[in-house]
Amino acid sequence: MSIDIVISDNADEAGKLIADEIATVIRRKPNAVIGVATGSSPLPIYRALADKVSSGLNATEVSWFALDEYLGLPPRSEQSYRYFLERHLIAPLGLDPKRLHVPDPSDADPDRAAQRYETEILQAQVDLQILGIGRNGHIGFNEPGTPFSIPTHRASLSETTRKANARFFHDSSEVPRECLTQGLGTIMRARRIELIATGPTKADAIARATAPPADPKCPASILQRHNSVRFVLDPLAAAKLT
Ligand code: F6R
Repeated sequence: MSIDIVISDNADEAGKLIADEIATVIRRKPNAVIGVATGSSPLPIYRALADKVSSGLNATEVSWFALDEYLGLPPRSEQSYRYFLERHLIAPLGLDPKRLHVPDPSDADPDRAAQRYETEILQAQVDLQILGIGRNGHIGFNEPGTPFSIPTHRASLSETTRKANARFFHDSSEVPRECLTQGLGTIMRARRIELIATGPTKADAIARATAPPADPKCPASILQRHNSVRFVLDPLAAAKLT
């Protein structure tokens, strides 16, 4: 088991490579289950995928499962991950929003919402999971120190992550402190995993994630134990690989 690493010329090329992989999965299995990340990194993937749909790829039968969702935002908030995925994935691909599954932040009992999502995603069985990576090595919102076996759960965002995500909010005090996230154990059950990382702020996390041994201090390092995983990087994110 080892991580396949591909270094593309730039973020757009990295996005195209992963969109190619998604298209291959969908052509092979039109009702595939695909796990999707939010944030800046996957945007080139979703743009390239929209181009493929314009050129005839049929993605209407795919089920899409979000990695995570904030807790504590107002309903229909534009900062929610449901809104993000509807805007950057579902609408450009012309898909029915009912195909998108997101952990439910409106449940009065977030632990129950997490358990329900875990059951739903395990029953669906993810064929391909798309990931970004945080500067501190998080995947989903599994921050450093999270146990490797954890299922979907309610989690707290680290201060590093709240600072990094403040760019999406009018004021940094509005960044939620909690979320629901697929756990590391959940992510590891996907049949295949593709991680995209671009830019210099990801170089340390990529170096740590790929250096054995896998260690919960860098949550993404658990991916060393998966049998079908690829990191698609730009030269800046790959700069500290040894
Ligand atoms: C997003 C997610 C996070 C991001 C990570 C990187 O759904 O779960 O792990 O992938 O924080 O975010 P960007 O791509 O904005 O740097």
